[in-house]
Parts: sequence; structure tokens; C-alpha cells
Amino acid sequence: MDKTIEKIVSLCKRRGFVFQSSDIYGGFSAVYDYGPLGIELKNNISQLWWKEMTQVHENIVGLDSGILMHPKIWEASGHTGAFNDPLVDCKQCNARFRADEFSKEYKEIDWKETQCPRCGTTGMLTEPRQFNLMFKTSVGPVEEKGTEAFLRPETAQGIYVNYQLVQGAMRTKIPFGIAQIGKAFRNEIIARNFIFRTREFEQMEMQYFVKPGLDDKAMIEWKTKRHDFYYEKLGITKSKIRFHEHQNEELAHYAKEAWDIEYEFPFGWSEIEGIHNRTDFDLRRHQDFSGKNLTYFDQPNNERFLPYIIETSAGLNRMLLTVLSDSYWEDIENNRVVMKINPKIAPVKAVICPLVKKDGLPEKARKIAEELKPHFKIIYDQQGSIGKRYYRQDEAGTPFGITIDHQSLDDNSVTIRYRDSQRQERISEDKILNLIKNNI
Ligand code: GAP
Repeated sequence: MDKTIEKIVSLCKRRGFVFQSSDIYGGFSAVYDYGPLGIELKNNISQLWWKEMTQVHENIVGLDSGILMHPKIWEASGHTGAFNDPLVDCKQCNARFRADEFSKEYKEIDWKETQCPRCGTTGMLTEPRQFNLMFKTSVGPVEEKGTEAFLRPETAQGIYVNYQLVQGAMRTKIPFGIAQIGKAFRNEIIARNFIFRTREFEQMEMQYFVKPGLDDKAMIEWKTKRHDFYYEKLGITKSKIRFHEHQNEELAHYAKEAWDIEYEFPFGWSEIEGIHNRTDFDLRRHQDFSGKNLTYFDQPNNERFLPYIIETSAGLNRMLLTVLSDSYWEDIENNRVVMKINPKIAPVKAVICPLVKKDGLPEKARKIAEELKPHFKIIYDQQGSIGKRYYRQDEAGTPFGITIDHQSLDDNSVTIRYRDSQRQERISEDKILNLIKNNI
């Protein structure tokens, strides 16, 4: 099967998962809108992550901080400085480098003849550009000096600057985590591969506060947990998930150790999540810049220290693209395309179909739909042949099809059809709810 990103993009538009932004105006580069199925899938994925973090782990709590924050935060975090460097990008592997790291005389370099330090390809590096990735805006009615603010390029900083308030309010003891899901914005030079790299995206980040010295152990723990999440919870093919460790030249300015979790997309292995040991870099910087004491008081040991932070940082849109890429299946034998999405996160759980639009079948089908609706997302469909209706739902990733026929009127039985195998069986109407509930 030839699984290409173009085929996935086309299915996403056709079935209402993802649309190019501002389509009727010819599109707006590197921004995407999520259609009816896309938003259901995105919500299901983020709820799965949220539950995993804040429900399964008693010592992780949630937060929702603002997109706009005090501009000094970005000076402290290093984003104002680090994002102002001359940058070159590799068009092959999307890695970004500071041009002056190649040579102080970087203006003399012939970039077309230069090899990418990460993937080794020659001729794919862009010319250096002075570039700040942050989107600038102005706060208040008059645009003047002092009103400048930035759209956050990561959600993490909102957690760092709130960490003491959260800790005080919830009386959390170290080790503890703070989780957040929210929009982030980066003025990416090279935005490509559909929703993989965009200018507006969502992050799901968790910052885990530990005692210095216990950071390496926590790093190992979180690497395992996050890796296993992809195939155990999300249902992604295990052999398509791997780690990539950042070597010195790749390490972000804040990280002591960093690992990417990568997925094998149709366009190659690429990062979906980063696990970083950020040490006390961020808290120390915020302490210096704000003048506030940000140490944690460890009561049992009667000592104060700045916690180290292990960060797990996933892109929600990339996770969604992972799910879409992994579940796309061309069933050549049966001439259909199936999105084999894990039923737990499938946008719609069941389609309810009266076999024909007459003889009282729609009324019975409607009654069943009404009974199932409060429990999970279903759709009612009576348009077209039953085969076409099933195939439409195969592309939408709907795991169960319920058909009401003339026999249903006699004995209250229905046909349930399983998406992947197309197996069908007859079950009693009153068994539908539990059968589906037990499988999602
Ligand atoms: N707080 C750390 C941080 O932001 P990052 O590696 O720059 O680290 C973390 O980003 C995750 O956010 C990435 O693994 C990716 O999933 C997602 N991400 C980053 N930039 C993105 C973009 N332009 N479009 C979509 N997702 C992006």
C-alpha cells in the first residue's frame, strides 16, 4: 500500500477532519482548521492525555495560563535572545541551526555546499536569516513602546511562573507535576508536511518538579511512560515509535538532556514529543528577572532549593497526525479506505442506519439513536445504499455500524458491523449499548 501524506490530506478534507485555513481566500499558509471529525478526534486525544496526566497521577495537577504574558518572561526564558540569531534551516529534516555555530565568519559560507549536521544532506540548508520566531503584538489602544507583547511560543513558561501559586494552593509536595494544554505560536520559516509544522498549534505539556539529584531517575521514568502511552493508550503501531537522543549541538539552551519520541510518518521519522531535563534553568532565570524567591521549602528535611524540572512536551496536532497516518489503510481486496482509529478515540463511535427509508424502519432507528446518544457520539444516516453508508464511515474511522431491517420490527434484533473486519452479527437491540461501551 502506498501511504502518502497527499492521500491523507485529501481524505481529511473529504471527510471533514482538517481544512486549510481561509480556503475561500486561497488559503493561509501553515494554519489549519479542524472540521467536525477533526475536532472530535482532537478532543478525544487531548482528553486521553489529560486523564493520563491529572487523573492517573495523583501528584499532577492542571493549569490553564494566558497566551499573552508579561514580556519579561520571554527575556528570562531566553526566547527573546535566542530567537534573534541568524538561523539556517535544513529543508530535509527541519532541524534549525544558528549560522554562527558553523563559523564566526558565517557570511562567507556557501550554504548550498554545506552539509546538515543532523541528517547529513548537502544542499538543503537555507541562507541565514535574522529571525525571531515569536509573533509580536501590542497590548492596549495605542501601539507604542512599552505596549509590546508576544504570543507564547510554548506553554511551559505559564507553568513556571505559576508554580509557587499552584504549589501553595494545592499543598503539593515534591515530586509533583503541573499539566497544561493550550495554543502556542511560532513564526516558522519552513512550515510544511500538513499539520506537522504550523504557525499556530497546540501543546500538551507537563512539567515535573523534582529534588536536584533525583532528576536523572525521573527522566528515565517519564521517558518510559511517554513512550508506552503511544502504543498502549493511543493504539499506535509499536514498531513505528522510537527515541532519538539530542546530541550536544541539538540541545536547546535550557536542556541538560533531551530525547525526542519519533514516529515514522509517510515523509520519514519525525519528532512528536520531547522529554527534556531543563534543570533549574527556568526557575533560576525567573527568580533573577522577577526578584522573587522561587525556592521550594522541603519541610521534612528543613531545606530550601530550586527544583529541577523534567518536561514532557507533546504537540496535539502532531499526535493527531500520528493517529491519522497510523490508521490510514487501503483495503485493496474490498476496494475501500479505512481509518483504523482506536475505538477509544474514534470521532464517532457508531452509525445508525435504517436499511430503507420506509416501513417504520427510520422510526425504530431513531429510537435506538436517541437511546445511545447520551452515552457516546453517534450519527444517524439514511442516505444512499447501505454499502455506501458503511464505506463513508470506514473513511471516518467509525468502528461500529448498526443496521435496522425488517426483521428488527419482528424480534428487536439488529445487525452490528465491525469496521476493520467487516464481520456482521445479529444481536438483540438491548445489547448494543453495553457491547459498544465495553469496546471504547
Ligand atoms: N516546551 C518545550 C518545547 O516547546 P519543542 O521541542 O520546541 O519544545 C515541543 O516543542 C513539541 O511541540 C514538539 O515535539 C512538537 O510536537 C510540538 N511543536 C513544536 N513546534 C511545532 C510547530 N511549529 N507545529 C506543530 N507542532 C509543533
